[in-house]
Amino acid sequence: MGFEKYYEAFPAYSDIYSEEYRKRIETLEPLLLRYMPKKGRVLDLACGTGGFSFLLEDLGFNVVALDNSDVMLSKAKEFAKDRRSKVEFVKGDARKLPFEENSFDYVVFIDSLVHFEPRDLNSTFKEVARVLKPGGRFILQFTDLRALLPVLTNGQIVGAEYWISKVLPDADEKTVVLEFQSEKEHFRVRFNVWGKTAVELLAKLYFRQLHSERMNEHSYFQVYAPKK
Ligand SMILES: C[S@@+](CC[C@H](N)C(=O)[O-])C[C@H]1O[C@@H](n2cnc3c(N)ncnc32)[C@H](O)[C@@H]1O
Repeated sequence: MGFEKYYEAFPAYSDIYSEEYRKRIETLEPLLLRYMPKKGRVLDLACGTGGFSFLLEDLGFNVVALDNSDVMLSKAKEFAKDRRSKVEFVKGDARKLPFEENSFDYVVFIDSLVHFEPRDLNSTFKEVARVLKPGGRFILQFTDLRALLPVLTNGQIVGAEYWISKVLPDADEKTVVLEFQSEKEHFRVRFNVWGKTAVELLAKLYFRQLHSERMNEHSYFQVYAPKK
């Protein structure tokens, strides 16, 4: 049971040239352009295989990209080589960032909250506020899994080959195990369940919200400034 299998199964998160990944980029690009008006130094936090790091580099930003997974980082570095990218990929933990304070103009954190328990997300937000320059911006995109949970009934199709065959929340719905099934196999992944209200309450400890918009029924794009 784990995320590595999940990312291998879903090109939306692993193959930056897949239609699914490109669709995510196409949806977010106009928002990034609008809310990242000045060029500068960006941290792509939990960068995965780097699709958004390369997009930001192409848009003229100086990009450092961090992830804690060797598998994701080695794919990112292969893509980087193909593209002759200058993105600096760093292995590290979002909860304890290996960067000086006030060292980034932007931190972008895309589609990664399901990995983080409440205590871990608190440390991560605190670290993001520390490494951002005064006047810097924290760009956050996430799915409201709390609202989505009732919709994820058995049989929901995901991607080209899989459907959700089991939805197993824990008693207080802080996490949910989803079982993905295809014609050939099945596997389970445990997700942390974050809702918009909980994310905003936590963010409020370290940031001022500058903007929030709904991207689709269950997904949000938000912009924050550190309180300093
Ligand atoms: C769904 S992927 C998103 C990747 C990328 N932002 C994107 O949108 O394609 C989530 C990523 O978070 C990374 N991750 C999970 N926990 C982390 C942590 N504590 N520190 C750094 N990265 C982490 C995972 O390895 C994975 O690559």
